[in-house]
Amino acid sequence: MERDINKPIFEKEPLLDSDYEDDSTSTVMTPKRYFRRWWPIAGLLQLILLLIYTGLSIAIIRINTDLEGAPDIHAFAGLAVRYKFRLYDNFINSPYGGEPTPASDEAWHQLLNNMSIRVTAEELAAHGQSSVELPNGGYLAWLGVFHELHCVKMLRQWSWREHYFPNLTAHEHQHHMVHIDHCLDWLRNAAVCRADTSALAVFKWADKMPHPMLNTHRVEHRCVDWDALMSSHEDRLVSHDEVTSLRNPNMADSVDA
Ligand SMILES: *[C@@H]1O[C@H](CO)[C@@H](O)[C@H](O)[C@H]1NC(C)=O
Ligand SMILES: *[C@@H]1O[C@H](CO)[C@@H](O)[C@H](O)[C@H]1NC(C)=O
Repeated sequence: MERDINKPIFEKEPLLDSDYEDDSTSTVMTPKRYFRRWWPIAGLLQLILLLIYTGLSIAIIRINTDLEGAPDIHAFAGLAVRYKFRLYDNFINSPYGGEPTPASDEAWHQLLNNMSIRVTAEELAAHGQSSVELPNGGYLAWLGVFHELHCVKMLRQWSWREHYFPNLTAHEHQHHMVHIDHCLDWLRNAAVCRADTSALAVFKWADKMPHPMLNTHRVEHRCVDWDALMSSHEDRLVSHDEVTSLRNPNMADSVDA
C-alpha cells in the first residue's frame, strides 16, 4: 500500500510491528524518527517514478502520433523527411501554371526529371512489392509523391488538350478519360490521406458575389522540405537513358523503338 507522506499518520496512529521492520534499525525507532529518516528517500523514489512515468508516456504518445522519425514508415531508409512551415507558391506567378509555354513545359520537366530511382530487392520486399529490373542493377521506382505530380501534370495537359493532344480520335479521347479519372481519384485520395490540418481555409465577401467566396490569401502550411528530401536520395537517380532503354521482355516486337 502506498503512503501519503504528507499525512502525519506516523505521529498519531500506532503502527504495526511490520512497519518498523528494517534490518539496520530494527530496535527502538519512534514513528516520528522513522518518518524523518525515510521521507527524503520516499520523495526521491516518487520523483524517479514520476520521471519514468513521464518518459514512458511521452514515448507512447510519440510512437502513436509522431511517426516522422521512424524509418520504417518511409519507402526506404535514408530519406530526409523534415517539416517546415511555408506558403504555397502564388499560382499567378507559378511557373507550372498558365497557358502552355516553353517555360512552363520546362518547369514541369525539371520537377519530374529526377523521379526515376533505383531500389533494392530487399526494399521492395519490405513493402511486398516487385518492379521492373534495371540494366545497371536494382529495380525501377518513384517515390509515391511523383505519382501524384505525374497526375497533376496529366490533368494540366488535359485542360490544354488542344495543345498537348491535338486531333484525338474518339477512341483516343476515351482512353485518355480513363487516365484522367484515375488521376482525379488518385489526387482526391492523396489529399484525404495527407489531410492538411495545419491551415484553415477561410472565406470573404467579394464584390458582386452573393455567396461567401474562398479566400485564396496564402497562409503557412506544414510542408516537407522538398529540397532536402530530393537531395537525400540523389544517389539513387536512374538516368533517362537507362529508363528509355527498358523494353518489355514479354513482347516480341519491343526490341527497339
Ligand atoms: C536532379 O538531379 C541532379 C543530379 O543530382 C541535380 O543536379 C538536379 O538539381 C536535380 N534536379 C531537380 C529538379 O531536383
Ligand atoms: C489537327 O487537325 C487540323 C485540322 O484538321 C490540322 O490542320 C492539324 O494539322 C492537325 N494537327 C495534328 C497535330 O495532326
